[in-house]
Amino acid sequence: MAAESNAVHGGGRRHVLLFPLPYQGHINPMFRLAGLLHARGFAVTVFHTHFNAPDPARHPQYRFVPVPDGTSGPAPVAIEDVVAQILALTGACESEFRDRLAAVLEEYSRDAVACLIADAHLLPIFEVAAKLAVPTLALRTGSAACCACFLAYPMLFEKGYLPVKESRRDMPVSELPPYRVRDLVVLSGDERGGVRELLARAVTAVKLSSGLILNTFDALERRELDGLRRDLAVPVFDIGPLHKFSPAGDSSLLRQDRSCLEWLDARAPASALYVSFGRLACMSPDDLVETAWGIAGSGVPFLWVVRPGMVRGSARQELPEGFEAATRGRGMVVAWAPQEEVLRHRAVGGFWTHNGWNSTTESVCEGVPMLCRPYFGDQMGNARYVEHVWRVGVEVGGELERGAVEAAIRLLMTGEDGAEMRARAGELKKAAEECTGKGGSSCLAIDKLVTHMMSLQH
Ligand code: UDX
Repeated sequence: MAAESNAVHGGGRRHVLLFPLPYQGHINPMFRLAGLLHARGFAVTVFHTHFNAPDPARHPQYRFVPVPDGTSGPAPVAIEDVVAQILALTGACESEFRDRLAAVLEEYSRDAVACLIADAHLLPIFEVAAKLAVPTLALRTGSAACCACFLAYPMLFEKGYLPVKESRRDMPVSELPPYRVRDLVVLSGDERGGVRELLARAVTAVKLSSGLILNTFDALERRELDGLRRDLAVPVFDIGPLHKFSPAGDSSLLRQDRSCLEWLDARAPASALYVSFGRLACMSPDDLVETAWGIAGSGVPFLWVVRPGMVRGSARQELPEGFEAATRGRGMVVAWAPQEEVLRHRAVGGFWTHNGWNSTTESVCEGVPMLCRPYFGDQMGNARYVEHVWRVGVEVGGELERGAVEAAIRLLMTGEDGAEMRARAGELKKAAEECTGKGGSSCLAIDKLVTHMMSLQH
């Protein structure tokens, strides 16, 4: 390793300060980044909100600094409420963060602190750091294509793509291929409000920072990365897929049920479908019923994550009566799984996913083809890339209906189309391994990132 690409400098470890957005899909990549930078010699300090706080006992090698965020009551369920919560809690922790950052700077001595890396959704945190002359880097946990969509938001309104009109949902967005209007980051009918504000703040945060870190890699998004490098004045570090450099299991907010790995051990290679819709997506009670009977009718072995709160308006996640008997010996349902290990398991032959960016990259890296059922935010765009660019999956669109679900599962798991997708996914897995291997693009980007961090001036 080159001398300048580790963080032991002038006799002491340099500190890196981190501040994740407190949701699973954002916490995981930040902790993976923490692991990577710690391995490069940085001392890691994690600032975090009280909401969804990490457990310091699981990371004794890091220091944790809680920042009061003014939240109270249960976590929001509807995605509109999540957007409102992000805007509220980032505002609420601003002054609390200022005090704590100032105290940490005094304690460590300014020169020992390389920089602060914060989630790009935390604009007030970037502003506080700028006022205290601490250099910042922005972590965007989505794809490069999604980041380009954020940058293009004003143009999308100017040119009339947004707000979305029902009649134009299938219209291609010629400035952002392969997106169609329906693939853009919008919430149903709400694109003038909180979402627009959230995206504008993320763009400002990136522009305020000294660099952008993306959990993606060259073989997956070369064209999109080139576009960002052209459009942004700050350096862009494509250091993904981060989970290949450092696992995030310890940052799981829910207890992972590891018994499903044993269950998978008893299954034939590539025979089982893994079904999970991530941490935030919610389905209607009717969709749960159609999903269940579609899975049952397919005859395919399955591991299904039915997480607490996954069904809208229902405290209990009840599967339909008779489902267990109909699938006995062929399926397993858990509340939360060790997903990285599940996708790596040889028995898993397909992933029915909501296409959160972490789930998408975790699947791509294990050569697992996907059934795509995106719910909100960047998930539609991710599904578009899976189906039309990388061609390693197929979307389950429209209203969920058990017959269509059954057919989609069979197509992926036992059909010829599915076999072709699996073969392409295998190629993509190899390409990912090249990027993360010695001398690969992501390794070189990590070296550049560390060198950049060591060169930042207060
Ligand atoms: C959210 C948005 O949905 C996503 O589009 C955005 O890119 C990040 O924030 P989330 O819904 O949580 O993320 O999905 P995803 O990005 O896929 O992240 C979920 C994480 O939880 C993954 O790292 C996955 O490995 C983990 N997970 C999921 C588990 O550990 N166990 C499970 O059972 C399911």
